[in-house]
Amino acid sequence: MRDARDYIIFPLDVPSPEAAKKLVTLLSGEVGMFKVGLELFIQAGPDIVRFIRSEGARIFLDLKLHDIPATVLRAMLRAADLDVTFATVHCGESRGMLEAAVEGSRGKVGVLGVTVLTSVSQQDIAASGFRPELAGDMTRLVMNRAEMAKDAGCAGIVCSGLEAAAVKGAFGAGFLAVTPGIRPAGDRVSDDQKRVTTPGEAVNMGADYLVIGRPIRDAADPREAARRIAVEIDAGLKQAVLSD
Ligand code: C5P
Repeated sequence: MRDARDYIIFPLDVPSPEAAKKLVTLLSGEVGMFKVGLELFIQAGPDIVRFIRSEGARIFLDLKLHDIPATVLRAMLRAADLDVTFATVHCGESRGMLEAAVEGSRGKVGVLGVTVLTSVSQQDIAASGFRPELAGDMTRLVMNRAEMAKDAGCAGIVCSGLEAAAVKGAFGAGFLAVTPGIRPAGDRVSDDQKRVTTPGEAVNMGADYLVIGRPIRDAADPREAARRIAVEIDAGLKQAVLSD
């Protein structure tokens, strides 16, 4: 069984390389991977990715590519040279875009398709013009996109913990479910995440990695917060084994 800490992907959602480096030093032994997203990458570029790698940590490069296939291919070729574990592309547009991302990865980086952001609700989907049967059934929309990602050769998808069981059931244990929108038990959600689960629920439903940001970053003691979350993950994993 993997260590509970290995499930945690901590997003370095901070505006400077200095702040990111501090968090990498603080949390290196407590989380399995660091996520570099748009805010930090726009500010600090590939150098911060190289720094984190030089510290021996694994990286999820979350740039959520969304463009014509030729551009996505060329962007992913560059990402593949950064020695990162995962990189993201949006699933919402076309299979060609996903295939281009996989081609650009050259087998050096696991491409994850972003299905439906965990900040998006049914109302948001309906308002953006989706057919009622998809707007009213978020899992179906996620599954459509997951199937496209699987067919295109992606390593897995990003989805809510609420959809993880359906994804793993349909596409197999080897197809990764990476789940943001995680809030520890007892946390009241008052931010932009809508389709949320606790850490225990997410792993119980088969999630392979949990993206957990603000509950750790904004805690008085981030290291202690990460440890408490690992305890919740551990309990969820044990429960999953018992119910197998
Ligand atoms: O735990 P917290 O809500 O702070 O995590 C936010 C992070 O998760 C951000 O870095 C965001 O990009 C990422 N994320 C997300 N929903 C997705 C994919 C990634 O919230 N579907």
